Amino acid sequence: PKEKGWLGPDLYFYQGFWYPTRILKAFISFQNHFQAFNSDIIVATFPKCGTTWLKALTFSTLYRNQFPWDENPLLTFGPHQLVRFFEHDLYLNNPFPDLQNVCVYQPRLFSTHVSYTSLPTSIKDSGCKIVYICRNPMDMLISFWQFMTKVQDGESLSLDEAFDKFYHGIIVHGPCFDHVLGYWKASQENPNKILFLKYEDLKEDTGSHLKNLAMFLGVPFTDDEEKQGVIEKIAKICSFENLKELEVNKKGAHISRVPHTGFFRKGEVGDWSNYLTPFMIECLEKLIQEKLNGSGLTFKLSS
Ligand code: A3P
Repeated sequence: PKEKGWLGPDLYFYQGFWYPTRILKAFISFQNHFQAFNSDIIVATFPKCGTTWLKALTFSTLYRNQFPWDENPLLTFGPHQLVRFFEHDLYLNNPFPDLQNVCVYQPRLFSTHVSYTSLPTSIKDSGCKIVYICRNPMDMLISFWQFMTKVQDGESLSLDEAFDKFYHGIIVHGPCFDHVLGYWKASQENPNKILFLKYEDLKEDTGSHLKNLAMFLGVPFTDDEEKQGVIEKIAKICSFENLKELEVNKKGAHISRVPHTGFFRKGEVGDWSNYLTPFMIECLEKLIQEKLNGSGLTFKLSS
């Protein structure tokens, strides 16, 4: 089935999720071709849930001893250049990309928006680790809508239209609840393989989540590092305020047709309250309750 939707004129429903044509092709190549190493780290996210932020945090935490601090590559490269997407980048125009030299540092670090169920078997079956981030669905919707209307060319979408599509799950990589619950359930079954994070929690206490992240990645912060304020330094360099103002993120470079600036908007929890009508809020509250019912997953809607 085919549906008019976000990110290009057409979305296709495949293996339970919606994809624009070119991303679908790239995703199938990725699914068939990619061979994971046990040491690989994958940043997996639903779009607009903090991918850019989590890439920066994971990159800085994982490789912190591989470059002098004041030469953190984040100062000169965008997070999406440093941690590359499979289906939105590496496999986009090449079904068999040479991944040999893609990652400058080791272990390899990649990223994807593909659902847990559709990941290549070698990612699921190998020892590689996945860090996942999601966000409360109301902020997801507003961030997505703003992104589509302001950043993606050729698609102007009213909030009513965006709401309708979001509500019915017809958005790129959606339905979001199936995506989030897929990773949530897998993380409950195998917490050593999947670290499940929420944007709101990271915002509230970046430091303690960075500690968990480092532990999960197998590179815990030492007492000395803690005393030297390394955790705070990572949180600071990766903060919305800092990344947004870096020259590299203001420049015209594009990742999958999106300019770097397009990944930085407001960076807050609860911006939905500035846009959604009482009717939309009521519908979404019911939908969230219905979809998450019995899963043990909850979201904070405001800070
Ligand atoms: P808003 O549109 O609500 O501002 P993604 O990276 O998955 O595309 O998500 C984009 C969202 O994350 C946008 O949300 C963006 O502003 C926010 N964001 C980007 N960098 C961030 C950072 N370093 N810290 C917190 N939020 C960030």
